[in-house]
Formats: sequence, structure tokens, C-alpha cells
Amino acid sequence: MKPTRVLFVCLGNICRSPTAEGVFASLVKAQRLHNSITIDSAGTGGWHIGKPPDTRAIAAARGRGYDIAHLRGRQVQVSDFSFFDYILAMDDDNLSDLQRLAPAEHSGSVSLLLPYGSQRQYHQVPDPYYGGEQSFDLVLDLIEDACAGFLTHLQKS
Ligand code: 4NP
Repeated sequence: MKPTRVLFVCLGNICRSPTAEGVFASLVKAQRLHNSITIDSAGTGGWHIGKPPDTRAIAAARGRGYDIAHLRGRQVQVSDFSFFDYILAMDDDNLSDLQRLAPAEHSGSVSLLLPYGSQRQYHQVPDPYYGGEQSFDLVLDLIEDACAGFLTHLQKS
């Protein structure tokens, strides 16, 4: 498989995108593709730079066997657009913020994550920050489905 770099993006980089980074890293490792695929996550906002994921996101991920506690928040930077092949947004706001930041020649690498999945009820990952525990389970359900579909897409292309 040709080397591919993937960046997951949400607003704060403490709930959804670190969850996606952890889930996708686990899938990639299980397929022994970790030498071919570089994975990272970032936020469009800068409030949580250097911070670990939200404790609720860490706990929900741990419940399904993913360790995301070591990840640290960072903000999207313009150099990300030339480095990453795929920049996958969790929701429409993230997508429009990314499209505004993206140099024209790299705008094609930016898209939503969920259309790579098989479910069609949600087209974006709802922000769980002000939600309860079940919001974090929904985040995991949606991200697990879409990350599996995205990996299949990479393996076919
Ligand atoms: P995330 O969730 O975008 O999935 O990391 C949020 C985390 C923090 C905030 C908003 C959303 N916040 O407003 O601080």
C-alpha cells in the first residue's frame, strides 16, 4: 500500500478527533499497515492545545479497547494541508472551517469522515462535549463504522 497520511479534525481535539485517531490506529495496526499509514488529529479551535483527551472520551474509548490517554491536543495549521493526503472532518462546521483555511491546491483533501461508513442516519459526528455518556458511545459507534469503511477505501485505491 502506498504511504498515506490521515488527519482527523474536530473543534476541540479532545473528544471526537482523538477518538477517531485511536480507533483508526487500532484498525490499521490490526491489518499490519502501520508502516504505511501516518495518523494524527487536530482541532480547528485552540483552547485545548497540549491537553489530553476529555476524561469521558478516554473512558468510553477504553471501554472498547482503545487507548487514547497519551494523545495531546493541537490546532490545525496551514502546513497540515500539504502534509496530509486526507483531512477528515467530524462535522459541517469543521469542514467549512477547514475549507476556509485550505490553500486552493489542497482543498481536495478535505472531506467529512462519516460518508466513508455504511450507516446513513448521520452524516456528521454530533459534538458530545455537552452531552452525557451515551453521546460518547454514539461517537464511537459512528467513528468505528466510518473508519472501517475509510480503511477499505484506502486499500482499494
Ligand atoms: P471535540 O469536542 O470537538 O469533539 O473535541 C469539543 C471539545 C471542547 C469544546 C467543544 C467541543 N469546547 O468548546 O471547549
